[in-house]
Amino acid sequence: MLQGFRGALLYFHDDPFRTSREEDACTFIPDGLLLVAEGKVVAAGPFEELKHAAGAAPVQDHRGCLLMPGFVDTHIHYPQTEMIASYGEQLLTWLETYTFPEEARFSDPIHARRVADHCLDELLRNGTTTAMVFGTVHPESVDAFFEASEARQLRMIAGKVLMDRNAPAGLLDTPERAYSESTALIERWHNRGRARYAVTPRFAPTSSDAQLQAVRRLLDEHAGVYLHTHLAENRDEVAWAESLFAHLPPPSGKTQCGYLDVYNHFGLVGPRSVFAHAIQLEEADFRLLSTRGASIASCPTSNLFLGSGLFPFAQATGASHPVKLGLGTDVGAGTSFGMLQTLNEAYKVAQMGHQRLSPLQAFYLATLGGARALALEDCIGSFQVGMEADFVVLDPLATPILATRMNSARTLAERLFLFQMLGDDRAIQATYVLGKPAVAAPWHQPKSEHLLWLDLER
Ligand code: GUN
Ligand code: ZN
Repeated sequence: MLQGFRGALLYFHDDPFRTSREEDACTFIPDGLLLVAEGKVVAAGPFEELKHAAGAAPVQDHRGCLLMPGFVDTHIHYPQTEMIASYGEQLLTWLETYTFPEEARFSDPIHARRVADHCLDELLRNGTTTAMVFGTVHPESVDAFFEASEARQLRMIAGKVLMDRNAPAGLLDTPERAYSESTALIERWHNRGRARYAVTPRFAPTSSDAQLQAVRRLLDEHAGVYLHTHLAENRDEVAWAESLFAHLPPPSGKTQCGYLDVYNHFGLVGPRSVFAHAIQLEEADFRLLSTRGASIASCPTSNLFLGSGLFPFAQATGASHPVKLGLGTDVGAGTSFGMLQTLNEAYKVAQMGHQRLSPLQAFYLATLGGARALALEDCIGSFQVGMEADFVVLDPLATPILATRMNSARTLAERLFLFQMLGDDRAIQATYVLGKPAVAAPWHQPKSEHLLWLDLER
């Protein structure tokens, strides 16, 4: 059945980090119509041009609001949902103090399903429709997550954590179990509906050589499966990873294997590899990630919360060797499920490095950039014809201060910046999955007056 959605439309078809004028990377339609049938975009254009094509189809009126492709969270731990905001530690002690005890609870499938539901509802309330997700070491945790995402028809990538050392006994597997349990999960979930599988070694310090070899085997044996792990988040972690793998032969020109070299040694740096954080790296590492087509999930709220460091946006997106980049909430080290708050802190992290993350760049990362980082740009991340119709409706008048500032903003970029800096879940008026409402904020009343999106200066 054909349906229409009227409002201001914004989507990216190009990378604003690469176009000479960043406005050329996106399409903005002040009074637009998004036409959807069978969960896919049929057309996106000016209302006046498309209203005849809509014919008698029902049109949902979101005038005054901005419709954008659903946000993409490229790194989150669903089992850490209910331990978000745990006080006082940096990465390695935070893992021992809070995270491992919390993850031990996920051997219980009923607990796992309840938390998976909670996490997905939080993501949807915040406008996120796709994520790349860590489970725990328990295969049941992954079944619970995919069952919850299938019930909501979401496009999600997830996997069982692999750890065979340096964690509490109840959370360890072995190289053999990592292989057999991941194989069974891949056979059950990879490409089932909108689900995709990611082989998920937690990070180098918790996997032996034999386990990382098993990871490589899993990737070789299953086309289209991802590699999802952490990389170079915290200085102590980097030193630990390098000392644990000091027996590996150094790459030519080096005296010792760096952190990324460890993953590279085991053949894990490729176009479907997604590395969370990637803060404490050298220029040569960014070059390697770029040439291999691997992705970084940068997680600003987490990096600030754990005091891990500042992601070098300019280095990672630099012209000579740009790396595919997405943003992650990294809940529960991250402090928000919301992409708007993640963009807010990404801006501040860039500022700390005397770099500028423009609003168009930010919203690209939250949508098409994230989709590209997850190799999903053929199905999500824009309103091009044929894309899956996951989208978010942003209300520029959601709070008194947003309303005041939106009215004085003169350009699209200024308005986007206000969503980025002042917006949170209150600005998410609705989230649609395959053209169907997934959540609509109960506090939103139809407004008698709209903010106009016409007549903005370009
Ligand atoms: N490195 C290894 N495990 C984790 C985790 O659970 N969260 C974060 N932020 N970093 C990690
Ligand atoms: Zn993480």
